[in-house]
Amino acid sequence: MNEPEFTFTIDPDIRVARTLPARIYSDLSSFQTQRDRVFTRTWQYAAHDDVVKVAGQVHPFTLLPGALDEPLLLTRDAEDRVHALSNVCTHRGTLVVDGSGHEQQLRCRYHGRRFTLDGRFHSMPEFETTADFPSPTDDLPRVALGTWQRFFMVALAPAMTFDDVVAPLRARLGHLPFDELVFDATGARDYVVNANWALYIDNYLEGFHIPYVHNSLAAVIDYGAYAVELERYAVLQLAIARSGEAAFEAPRSHADAGKRVAAYYYWLFPTTMFNVYPWGVSVNVVVPLAVDRTRVSFLPFVWDASRREQGAGGGLDRVEREDEAIVEAVQRGVRSRLYDRGRYSPTREGGVHHFHRLLAEFMRA
Ligand code: FES
Ligand SMILES: [Fe+2]
Repeated sequence: MNEPEFTFTIDPDIRVARTLPARIYSDLSSFQTQRDRVFTRTWQYAAHDDVVKVAGQVHPFTLLPGALDEPLLLTRDAEDRVHALSNVCTHRGTLVVDGSGHEQQLRCRYHGRRFTLDGRFHSMPEFETTADFPSPTDDLPRVALGTWQRFFMVALAPAMTFDDVVAPLRARLGHLPFDELVFDATGARDYVVNANWALYIDNYLEGFHIPYVHNSLAAVIDYGAYAVELERYAVLQLAIARSGEAAFEAPRSHADAGKRVAAYYYWLFPTTMFNVYPWGVSVNVVVPLAVDRTRVSFLPFVWDASRREQGAGGGLDRVEREDEAIVEAVQRGVRSRLYDRGRYSPTREGGVHHFHRLLAEFMRA
């Protein structure tokens, strides 16, 4: 596709700006441009720290299946350092590690090349006469790894540091008991939505639809007090509890002291959401499977099971199905020949506007 196709602009002034051109949500070439310019250059959720809890643990995974399809590997070496590596053998390119487990070394099952757990080439049979061997290109390529609390994120060619992305979360949520979180594997859910990933993000980034789409959620939060805060690569939506509903109690010196926060909804550009409730954290991982298909994984981590179904953090499955239905209807709408771009509500759609500006910035670069 020619470059100019995706050099759309989003005016920085939300009052005059127009929303994303409809083709961004439905053209295959737009999806391919996002793969190369957005997903490779940003931080994506990888896993939580239980998957490489002890030295010698290895955890292979595919980064953004359907979009990047990048085979990666997390390891914890004997010195207790965690590494994110390519899981592709530097000999002839097969996958090195098949499944999670414990290893002293990594050994490729195709022709026996060995690597240490930090990815360095160790040995290989029948290569005695190969010239200039081994060299650094025989090591498994390293991938940028970021850690926030119990969560690992990775980036292939990041345009920003991990700190640029998570600094606001470190500052705002650092007092919460992340060490006590327990992953609830039986409560984890995958939802497949027949819509473009960016429509799912658009919908996530505004509370505007809550009174129309989510009766049960609207009953427990104070819509008038709902707040949006924009960061360089993140958006925070702050839901305030109605009186009597579950809320955090922030320490006296905290920015939210005196507020009855029902939920911190943190979105990190482009595909990760940390939803923090009085019961714990629901990580939502958005995986763009195809231009019109998206998988959303809900991963619950619990620090207070007694509050699990309370307030804004309760009934998440119902809220998700309500979101899915509306987002799928939008996907059908943006294919219309009679729709191209809309306008924003300056009071309610600041987060959506911010996302669209980031997308325009990265797709253009
Ligand atoms: S591909 Fe791994 S040793 Fe040959
Ligand atoms: Fe919603």
